[in-house]
Amino acid sequence: MQKIIEALDEKRAQARLGGGEKRIATQHAKGKLTARERIEVLLDPGSFEEYDMFVTHRATEFGIDETIIPGDGVVTGWGTINGRQVYVFSQDFTVFGGSLSETHAQKICKIMDLAVQNGAPVIGLNDSGGARIQEGVASLGGYAEVFWRNVQASGAVPQISVIMGPCAGGAVYSPAMTDFIYMVKDTSYMFVTGPDVVKTVTNEIVTQEELGGASTHTKISSVADAAFENDIETLLEVRRLFDFLPLSANEKPPVVAVNDRIDRGETSLDTIIPDSANKPYDMREVILKIADEGDFLELQKDHAGNILTGFIRLNGSTVGVVANQPLVLAGCLDINSSKKAARFIRFCDCFNIPILTLVDVPGFLPGVAQEYGGIIKHGAKLLFAYAEATVPKVTVITRKAYGGAYDVMASKHIRADVNYAWPSAEIAVMGAKGAVEILYRSELSDKDKIARRTKDYEDRFANPFVAAERGFIDDVIMPHGTRRRVVRAFETLKKKKASVPAKKHDNIPL
Ligand code: COA
Repeated sequence: MQKIIEALDEKRAQARLGGGEKRIATQHAKGKLTARERIEVLLDPGSFEEYDMFVTHRATEFGIDETIIPGDGVVTGWGTINGRQVYVFSQDFTVFGGSLSETHAQKICKIMDLAVQNGAPVIGLNDSGGARIQEGVASLGGYAEVFWRNVQASGAVPQISVIMGPCAGGAVYSPAMTDFIYMVKDTSYMFVTGPDVVKTVTNEIVTQEELGGASTHTKISSVADAAFENDIETLLEVRRLFDFLPLSANEKPPVVAVNDRIDRGETSLDTIIPDSANKPYDMREVILKIADEGDFLELQKDHAGNILTGFIRLNGSTVGVVANQPLVLAGCLDINSSKKAARFIRFCDCFNIPILTLVDVPGFLPGVAQEYGGIIKHGAKLLFAYAEATVPKVTVITRKAYGGAYDVMASKHIRADVNYAWPSAEIAVMGAKGAVEILYRSELSDKDKIARRTKDYEDRFANPFVAAERGFIDDVIMPHGTRRRVVRAFETLKKKKASVPAKKHDNIPL
């Protein structure tokens, strides 16, 4: 028996070596951890249970049958993050460049099926040269099996992709269909076609980094939600994100013990709104002051800065925050911010995460570029996402809530549950200047008259009370008491029940 046990140990040791010492050294030289080292950082110590360590490919073409490496380029299994179950796959670049073969795909599919069946998230660590070239269509079929499962799992269990090396061609579409993508700066990239093909087809000359590096995808394309300096920092941030999420759509988000009083007052919020309506202030500060322990996990922070999205905790429970940011484009809604917030809201709604909306919005961004770009359709995404979301929704208007953007930003009319306004709120069809210019066009040459008209308009509409008179605002609250009021509002909504008409699925404007 001893010999049999030793043989197993040996087989395991060989599998753990992946593509061998030399390729491991090359991986390290690039500043990257190996597939197994990454899992060690991601999961609780000693919690990883590996499956399919001895799986090998069955391909024969182009001499590949001469190289058989146990595990076939991906490490799969499950473990825990702070005690909570999660399924993981981690592609091993030291084995055929982490390329995806038929059997490599089968290993990923197995853990995805288990994750959906057992109600636990999937985290994929991607580091791969794409489809295993020697396997042809068998490998493409493998990708499609993974894609299909991504769609089945969508909305059932959270899916997180971490890009930690190459991710090119068809390989990008699995991460693209997951809920969150994190990237590692400088060592990871994603593109559908690489720089060489781009040059041939369009004559554009770009580097890998420019085309699909972390900076491109967090700032310009918005494909990625965040990027970090190195493998370790990225994986620790994934652990932080995971802690905010429920394990599946059948569960409520986790509740953690926090050391922060519900009724903590924040007098600084009473003076955060500047005297002039055109002066910005930092809405991030408002979020940090409301959140438990000032902890805000911001997503897509380098893209569409005119809206802020991310997770906080209130009285220990996860809450998704969507907030206009007056510091960028005066907090206007535009194409990018609408898409960013809509996708985030839909994630929250899938996974029973209540939504706090902080509103300071002067309207939709005007312009030919916005109209040609389809702001009508993209703005509708945000409206649609808010209106279809049945999770508890609490809204606080801090300053401007003008025009259609007032309706869109979780107004009472599209079924927010509790709507508050600060005394500084201005809820109207538009700002005073614009309104007077339209209503009193014939008087525009008379400066005094216009000033009087503007003052009249401001007195009547530049406040929250017209809306409060109609019950569209449930209460006008003191800024310093916002945390307490919002926490208590969410407490009342803990058992909220909402029904939706029977249908196959809705048809959000895409
Ligand atoms: N299929 C099979 N083997 C692959 C592979 C693939 N798709 N991609 C990489 N490999 C192998 C390489 O042959 C090499 O094997 P070796 O160590 O035995 O020599 C190993 O993985 C490492 O690749 P290498 O090219 O040396 O690494 P790199 O860091 O210089 O470059 C890539 C990485 C991903 C840019 C490069 O390997 C590449 O272009 N791969 C093909 C990408 C592609 O077009 N995939 C198909 C589209 S989905």
